[in-house]
Amino acid sequence: MSLFRHHPTRLVRLVPLLLVFIVAGCYPDHPQSTFDSTGPVAQSQLNLFYWIFWAAVFVFVTVQSALLYICLKFRRKPGDPDPEQTHGHNKLEIIWTVLPVILLAIVAVPTVLTIFDNANSPDPDGMHVNVVAHQWWWEFNYPGEDVKTSNELHIPVDEVVNVSLETKDVIHSFWIPKIAGKVDMVPGNSNKMWIKGEEIGIFHGQCAEFCGESHANMRFQVIVESRADFDAWVASEREPAVIPVEPLAKAGLDLFEGDAQCWSCHKVEGSSRSRGTKGPNLTHLSGRQYLGAGIVENSQTNLRNWLTSPNDLKPGNIMYRDAAVYNDPDKALSDSDISALVAYLRSLK
Ligand code: CUA
Repeated sequence: MSLFRHHPTRLVRLVPLLLVFIVAGCYPDHPQSTFDSTGPVAQSQLNLFYWIFWAAVFVFVTVQSALLYICLKFRRKPGDPDPEQTHGHNKLEIIWTVLPVILLAIVAVPTVLTIFDNANSPDPDGMHVNVVAHQWWWEFNYPGEDVKTSNELHIPVDEVVNVSLETKDVIHSFWIPKIAGKVDMVPGNSNKMWIKGEEIGIFHGQCAEFCGESHANMRFQVIVESRADFDAWVASEREPAVIPVEPLAKAGLDLFEGDAQCWSCHKVEGSSRSRGTKGPNLTHLSGRQYLGAGIVENSQTNLRNWLTSPNDLKPGNIMYRDAAVYNDPDKALSDSDISALVAYLRSLK
Protein backbone atom coordinates (compact mmCIF):
# COMPACT_ATOMS: atom_id res chain seq x y z
CA MET A 1 0.00 0.00 0.00
CA SER A 2 3.03 2.29 0.01
CA LEU A 3 1.90 3.32 -3.45
CA PHE A 4 -1.12 5.02 -1.89
CA ARG A 5 0.59 6.22 1.31
CA HIS A 6 2.89 8.53 -0.63
CA HIS A 7 0.26 9.49 -3.19
CA PRO A 8 -3.11 9.58 -1.46
CA THR A 9 -4.68 11.30 -4.48
CA ARG A 10 -4.13 8.11 -6.49
CA LEU A 11 -6.56 6.33 -4.21
CA VAL A 12 -9.10 9.12 -4.67
CA ARG A 13 -8.68 8.88 -8.44
CA LEU A 14 -9.61 5.20 -8.25
CA VAL A 15 -13.03 6.01 -6.81
CA PRO A 16 -14.69 7.10 -10.09
CA LEU A 17 -13.24 4.00 -11.78
CA LEU A 18 -14.68 1.81 -9.05
CA LEU A 19 -18.06 3.53 -9.46
CA VAL A 20 -17.97 2.90 -13.20
CA PHE A 21 -17.45 -0.83 -12.54
CA ILE A 22 -20.23 -0.96 -9.97
CA VAL A 23 -22.72 0.89 -12.17
CA ALA A 24 -21.73 -1.13 -15.28
CA GLY A 25 -22.49 -4.32 -13.33
CA CYS A 26 -26.06 -3.13 -12.71
CA TYR A 27 -26.70 -1.79 -16.20
CA PRO A 28 -29.85 -3.62 -17.37
CA ASP A 29 -28.75 -3.80 -21.03
CA HIS A 30 -25.76 -5.96 -20.14
CA PRO A 31 -26.43 -9.48 -21.51
CA GLN A 32 -25.90 -10.97 -18.08
CA SER A 33 -27.58 -8.30 -15.98
CA THR A 34 -30.26 -9.57 -13.62
CA PHE A 35 -31.87 -6.11 -13.55
CA ASP A 36 -33.72 -6.76 -16.80
CA SER A 37 -35.56 -10.01 -16.14
CA THR A 38 -37.76 -11.66 -18.72
CA GLY A 39 -39.43 -14.54 -16.93
CA PRO A 40 -41.44 -15.13 -13.77
CA VAL A 41 -38.58 -16.86 -11.94
CA ALA A 42 -35.98 -14.11 -12.51
CA GLN A 43 -38.71 -11.50 -11.91
CA SER A 44 -39.60 -12.97 -8.50
CA GLN A 45 -35.90 -13.07 -7.59
CA LEU A 46 -35.48 -9.44 -8.68
CA ASN A 47 -38.55 -8.38 -6.66
CA LEU A 48 -37.10 -10.13 -3.63
CA PHE A 49 -33.78 -8.38 -4.18
CA TYR A 50 -35.48 -4.95 -4.21
CA TRP A 51 -37.56 -5.82 -1.16
CA ILE A 52 -34.49 -6.79 0.89
CA PHE A 53 -32.46 -3.90 -0.53
CA TRP A 54 -35.02 -1.27 0.56
CA ALA A 55 -35.39 -2.94 3.97
CA ALA A 56 -31.61 -2.68 4.36
CA VAL A 57 -31.68 0.97 3.20
CA PHE A 58 -34.39 1.70 5.78
CA VAL A 59 -32.32 0.10 8.58
CA PHE A 60 -29.15 1.89 7.49
CA VAL A 61 -30.73 5.33 7.24
CA THR A 62 -32.66 4.97 10.51
CA VAL A 63 -29.70 3.69 12.53
CA GLN A 64 -27.20 6.15 11.08
CA SER A 65 -29.55 9.14 11.55
CA ALA A 66 -30.25 8.15 15.16
CA LEU A 67 -26.53 7.67 15.78
CA LEU A 68 -25.68 11.04 14.27
CA TYR A 69 -28.47 12.79 16.19
CA ILE A 70 -27.39 11.24 19.51
CA CYS A 71 -23.72 12.04 18.93
CA LEU A 72 -24.46 15.69 18.23
CA LYS A 73 -27.25 16.27 20.72
CA PHE A 74 -25.67 14.54 23.72
CA ARG A 75 -22.10 15.52 23.04
CA ARG A 76 -20.16 16.28 26.23
CA LYS A 77 -19.76 20.04 26.74
CA PRO A 78 -17.14 21.73 28.96
CA GLY A 79 -18.25 21.75 32.57
CA ASP A 80 -20.85 18.92 32.14
CA PRO A 81 -21.11 16.65 35.17
CA ASP A 82 -20.78 12.82 34.75
CA PRO A 83 -23.92 11.39 33.13
CA GLU A 84 -26.46 9.51 35.21
CA GLN A 85 -25.27 5.92 35.81
CA THR A 86 -27.94 3.32 34.97
CA HIS A 87 -28.16 -0.46 34.66
CA GLY A 88 -30.76 -1.98 32.34
CA HIS A 89 -33.73 -0.33 30.67
CA ASN A 90 -36.69 -2.66 30.13
CA LYS A 91 -38.56 -0.45 27.69
CA LEU A 92 -35.54 0.06 25.42
CA GLU A 93 -34.61 -3.60 25.55
CA ILE A 94 -38.10 -4.64 24.49
CA ILE A 95 -38.05 -2.11 21.63
CA TRP A 96 -34.69 -3.26 20.27
CA THR A 97 -35.79 -6.89 20.44
CA VAL A 98 -39.21 -6.48 18.88
CA LEU A 99 -38.18 -4.11 16.07
CA PRO A 100 -35.57 -6.48 14.55
CA VAL A 101 -38.04 -9.38 14.88
CA ILE A 102 -40.58 -7.42 12.83
CA LEU A 103 -37.89 -6.42 10.31
CA LEU A 104 -36.68 -10.02 9.98
CA ALA A 105 -40.27 -11.18 9.42
CA ILE A 106 -40.71 -8.55 6.70
CA VAL A 107 -37.64 -10.00 4.94
CA ALA A 108 -38.21 -13.68 5.74
CA VAL A 109 -41.84 -14.11 4.67
CA PRO A 110 -41.37 -13.04 1.00
CA THR A 111 -38.05 -14.94 0.91
CA VAL A 112 -39.65 -18.23 1.98
CA LEU A 113 -42.61 -17.71 -0.38
CA THR A 114 -40.23 -17.06 -3.31
CA ILE A 115 -38.12 -20.12 -2.46
CA PHE A 116 -41.22 -22.34 -2.59
CA ASP A 117 -42.50 -20.66 -5.77
CA ASN A 118 -39.17 -21.19 -7.50
CA ALA A 119 -38.88 -24.79 -6.32
CA ASN A 120 -42.35 -25.96 -7.33
CA SER A 121 -43.12 -25.96 -11.01
CA PRO A 122 -46.55 -24.52 -11.89
CA ASP A 123 -46.78 -27.16 -14.62
CA PRO A 124 -44.88 -30.31 -13.54
CA ASP A 125 -46.28 -32.31 -16.49
CA GLY A 126 -45.07 -29.73 -19.02
CA MET A 127 -41.93 -29.86 -21.09
CA HIS A 128 -38.76 -31.39 -19.63
CA VAL A 129 -35.10 -30.76 -20.28
CA ASN A 130 -32.28 -32.67 -18.62
CA VAL A 131 -29.17 -30.54 -18.36
CA VAL A 132 -25.88 -32.31 -17.79
CA ALA A 133 -22.85 -30.20 -16.98
CA HIS A 134 -19.34 -31.17 -18.05
CA GLN A 135 -15.98 -29.42 -17.69
CA TRP A 136 -16.66 -27.07 -19.57
CA TRP A 137 -19.77 -27.47 -21.68
CA TRP A 138 -23.45 -28.31 -21.43
CA GLU A 139 -25.53 -31.21 -22.61
CA PHE A 140 -29.25 -30.55 -23.20
CA ASN A 141 -31.50 -33.59 -23.52
CA TYR A 142 -35.21 -33.29 -24.32
CA PRO A 143 -36.68 -36.70 -23.42
CA GLY A 144 -40.20 -35.83 -24.63
CA GLU A 145 -38.96 -34.48 -27.96
CA ASP A 146 -36.28 -37.14 -28.42
CA VAL A 147 -33.63 -34.48 -29.00
CA LYS A 148 -30.07 -34.35 -27.66
CA THR A 149 -27.97 -31.28 -28.21
CA SER A 150 -25.17 -29.25 -26.65
CA ASN A 151 -24.48 -25.70 -25.52
CA GLU A 152 -27.64 -24.10 -26.94
CA LEU A 153 -30.93 -24.48 -25.15
CA HIS A 154 -34.03 -23.86 -27.27
CA ILE A 155 -37.28 -23.24 -25.40
CA PRO A 156 -40.73 -22.16 -26.55
CA VAL A 157 -41.84 -18.73 -25.34
CA ASP A 158 -44.42 -18.45 -22.53
CA GLU A 159 -44.23 -22.13 -21.63
CA VAL A 160 -43.05 -23.66 -18.38
CA VAL A 161 -39.94 -25.77 -18.89
CA ASN A 162 -39.04 -28.22 -16.13
CA VAL A 163 -35.29 -28.60 -15.82
CA SER A 164 -33.36 -31.34 -14.07
CA LEU A 165 -29.73 -30.62 -13.36
CA GLU A 166 -26.92 -33.13 -13.18
CA THR A 167 -23.15 -33.14 -13.53
CA LYS A 168 -20.71 -35.64 -14.97
CA ASP A 169 -17.74 -34.37 -12.95
CA VAL A 170 -17.43 -31.50 -10.42
CA ILE A 171 -19.97 -29.04 -9.00
CA HIS A 172 -21.33 -26.53 -11.53
CA SER A 173 -24.22 -24.10 -11.30
CA PHE A 174 -26.90 -23.39 -13.89
CA TRP A 175 -27.66 -19.72 -14.36
CA ILE A 176 -29.51 -17.72 -17.01
CA PRO A 177 -29.30 -14.24 -15.43
CA LYS A 178 -32.31 -12.75 -17.22
CA ILE A 179 -34.51 -15.87 -16.96
CA ALA A 180 -33.63 -17.81 -13.79
CA GLY A 181 -30.97 -19.01 -11.47
CA LYS A 182 -28.86 -20.18 -9.92
CA VAL A 183 -29.18 -23.86 -9.02
CA ASP A 184 -26.14 -26.01 -8.29
CA MET A 185 -25.37 -29.22 -10.14
CA VAL A 186 -23.93 -31.64 -7.63
CA PRO A 187 -22.30 -35.03 -8.38
CA GLY A 188 -24.58 -37.96 -7.56
CA ASN A 189 -27.62 -35.75 -7.06
CA SER A 190 -30.30 -34.45 -9.39
CA ASN A 191 -31.58 -30.94 -8.67
CA LYS A 192 -34.72 -29.46 -10.16
CA MET A 193 -35.87 -26.04 -11.24
CA TRP A 194 -38.30 -24.52 -13.70
CA ILE A 195 -37.90 -21.69 -16.16
CA LYS A 196 -40.13 -19.68 -18.44
CA GLY A 197 -39.05 -17.20 -21.08
CA GLU A 198 -41.50 -14.38 -21.73
CA GLU A 199 -39.67 -12.65 -24.53
CA ILE A 200 -38.43 -14.05 -27.84
CA GLY A 201 -34.67 -13.67 -28.21
CA ILE A 202 -31.25 -15.05 -27.38
CA PHE A 203 -30.23 -14.96 -23.74
CA HIS A 204 -26.88 -15.71 -22.18
CA GLY A 205 -26.27 -18.41 -19.61
CA GLN A 206 -23.21 -19.03 -17.52
CA CYS A 207 -21.85 -21.57 -15.09
CA ALA A 208 -21.96 -19.86 -11.71
CA GLU A 209 -19.86 -22.17 -9.56
CA PHE A 210 -16.09 -22.26 -9.89
CA CYS A 211 -15.38 -25.56 -11.63
CA GLY A 212 -11.78 -25.32 -12.83
CA GLU A 213 -9.55 -23.51 -15.26
CA SER A 214 -12.17 -22.65 -17.88
CA HIS A 215 -15.09 -21.99 -15.53
CA ALA A 216 -15.46 -18.51 -17.05
CA ASN A 217 -15.64 -20.12 -20.52
CA MET A 218 -18.49 -22.42 -19.54
CA ARG A 219 -21.29 -20.48 -21.14
CA PHE A 220 -24.39 -21.28 -23.15
CA GLN A 221 -27.16 -19.61 -25.09
CA VAL A 222 -30.87 -19.85 -24.45
CA ILE A 223 -32.93 -19.35 -27.58
CA VAL A 224 -36.49 -18.41 -26.66
CA GLU A 225 -38.67 -18.79 -29.74
CA SER A 226 -42.28 -19.13 -30.83
CA ARG A 227 -43.89 -22.57 -30.52
CA ALA A 228 -43.82 -22.92 -34.32
CA ASP A 229 -40.10 -22.10 -34.52
CA PHE A 230 -39.39 -24.43 -31.62
CA ASP A 231 -41.27 -27.30 -33.30
CA ALA A 232 -39.36 -26.65 -36.54
CA TRP A 233 -36.09 -26.73 -34.59
CA VAL A 234 -37.07 -30.02 -32.93
CA ALA A 235 -37.93 -31.52 -36.31
CA SER A 236 -34.57 -30.51 -37.78
CA GLU A 237 -32.64 -31.70 -34.70
CA ARG A 238 -34.25 -35.12 -35.00
CA GLU A 239 -32.88 -35.57 -38.50
CA PRO A 240 -29.60 -37.47 -38.71
CA ALA A 241 -26.57 -35.68 -40.16
CA VAL A 242 -26.41 -35.55 -43.94
CA ILE A 243 -23.38 -37.35 -45.35
CA PRO A 244 -21.42 -34.76 -47.34
CA VAL A 245 -20.73 -35.22 -51.06
CA GLU A 246 -18.40 -32.24 -51.51
CA PRO A 247 -14.85 -33.72 -51.74
CA LEU A 248 -13.18 -31.59 -49.04
CA ALA A 249 -16.01 -32.21 -46.56
CA LYS A 250 -15.96 -35.89 -47.48
CA ALA A 251 -12.23 -35.98 -46.70
CA GLY A 252 -13.03 -34.28 -43.39
CA LEU A 253 -15.58 -36.98 -42.56
CA ASP A 254 -12.97 -39.67 -43.29
CA LEU A 255 -10.54 -37.93 -40.92
CA PHE A 256 -13.23 -37.38 -38.29
CA GLU A 257 -14.12 -41.06 -38.32
CA GLY A 258 -10.54 -42.17 -38.86
CA ASP A 259 -7.07 -40.88 -38.04
CA ALA A 260 -8.15 -37.74 -36.16
CA GLN A 261 -10.24 -39.97 -33.84
CA CYS A 262 -12.87 -37.28 -33.24
CA TRP A 263 -15.48 -40.07 -33.35
CA SER A 264 -14.30 -41.52 -30.05
CA CYS A 265 -15.52 -38.48 -28.07
CA HIS A 266 -18.22 -36.89 -30.25
CA LYS A 267 -21.57 -38.15 -31.39
CA VAL A 268 -22.97 -37.45 -34.85
CA GLU A 269 -26.46 -38.92 -35.24
CA GLY A 270 -26.70 -41.08 -38.32
CA SER A 271 -23.06 -42.15 -38.15
CA SER A 272 -22.39 -45.70 -37.00
CA ARG A 273 -18.85 -44.72 -36.01
CA SER A 274 -19.19 -41.38 -34.19
CA ARG A 275 -20.89 -42.45 -30.99
CA GLY A 276 -18.68 -40.78 -28.35
CA THR A 277 -20.24 -39.07 -25.37
CA LYS A 278 -17.19 -37.48 -23.75
CA GLY A 279 -17.54 -34.31 -25.84
CA PRO A 280 -20.49 -32.35 -27.24
CA ASN A 281 -22.92 -33.90 -29.72
CA LEU A 282 -22.04 -32.32 -33.09
CA THR A 283 -24.92 -33.55 -35.26
CA HIS A 284 -26.19 -30.05 -36.13
CA LEU A 285 -23.14 -28.00 -35.17
CA SER A 286 -23.57 -25.52 -38.03
CA GLY A 287 -27.02 -24.58 -36.80
CA ARG A 288 -25.57 -23.20 -33.56
CA GLN A 289 -24.78 -19.55 -32.96
CA TYR A 290 -21.62 -20.08 -30.94
CA LEU A 291 -18.69 -22.47 -30.60
CA GLY A 292 -16.87 -23.87 -27.61
CA ALA A 293 -19.84 -23.53 -25.22
CA GLY A 294 -20.81 -19.95 -25.96
CA ILE A 295 -17.34 -18.43 -26.19
CA VAL A 296 -16.96 -17.40 -29.86
CA GLU A 297 -19.32 -16.92 -32.77
CA ASN A 298 -19.78 -19.96 -34.97
CA SER A 299 -17.77 -18.85 -38.00
CA GLN A 300 -15.40 -20.67 -40.33
CA THR A 301 -12.41 -18.71 -38.96
CA ASN A 302 -13.28 -19.40 -35.34
CA LEU A 303 -13.82 -23.09 -36.05
CA ARG A 304 -10.41 -23.25 -37.72
CA ASN A 305 -8.79 -21.44 -34.76
CA TRP A 306 -10.53 -23.78 -32.36
CA LEU A 307 -9.26 -26.90 -34.14
CA THR A 308 -5.78 -25.44 -34.55
CA SER A 309 -5.21 -24.46 -30.94
CA PRO A 310 -8.16 -25.23 -28.67
CA ASN A 311 -6.15 -24.35 -25.59
CA ASP A 312 -5.94 -20.70 -26.65
CA LEU A 313 -9.72 -20.37 -26.68
CA LYS A 314 -10.47 -22.59 -23.72
CA PRO A 315 -7.50 -23.22 -21.45
CA GLY A 316 -7.33 -26.71 -19.95
CA ASN A 317 -10.05 -28.22 -22.15
CA ILE A 318 -10.23 -31.99 -22.30
CA MET A 319 -9.97 -32.21 -26.11
CA TYR A 320 -6.60 -30.47 -26.04
CA ARG A 321 -5.51 -32.44 -23.00
CA ASP A 322 -6.51 -35.91 -24.22
CA ALA A 323 -6.72 -36.02 -28.02
CA ALA A 324 -3.74 -37.67 -29.70
CA VAL A 325 -3.74 -35.05 -32.48
CA TYR A 326 -2.63 -32.45 -29.92
CA ASN A 327 -0.32 -34.68 -27.90
CA ASP A 328 1.46 -36.94 -30.35
CA PRO A 329 3.59 -35.01 -32.90
CA ASP A 330 3.27 -37.95 -35.33
CA LYS A 331 -0.52 -37.56 -35.34
CA ALA A 332 -0.70 -33.74 -35.42
CA LEU A 333 -3.20 -32.24 -37.85
CA SER A 334 -1.77 -30.52 -40.92
CA ASP A 335 -3.30 -27.34 -42.33
CA SER A 336 -5.05 -29.33 -45.03
CA ASP A 337 -6.39 -31.80 -42.43
CA ILE A 338 -7.88 -28.87 -40.55
CA SER A 339 -9.40 -27.43 -43.74
CA ALA A 340 -11.06 -30.80 -44.39
CA LEU A 341 -12.37 -31.09 -40.84
CA VAL A 342 -13.70 -27.52 -40.97
CA ALA A 343 -15.48 -28.28 -44.27
CA TYR A 344 -17.06 -31.42 -42.76
CA LEU A 345 -18.13 -29.72 -39.52
CA ARG A 346 -19.56 -26.75 -41.47
CA SER A 347 -21.64 -29.23 -43.48
CA LEU A 348 -23.38 -30.49 -40.31
CA LYS A 349 -26.39 -28.24 -40.71
CU1 CUA B 1 -18.93 -25.18 -14.58
CU2 CUA B 1 -18.08 -23.29 -13.44
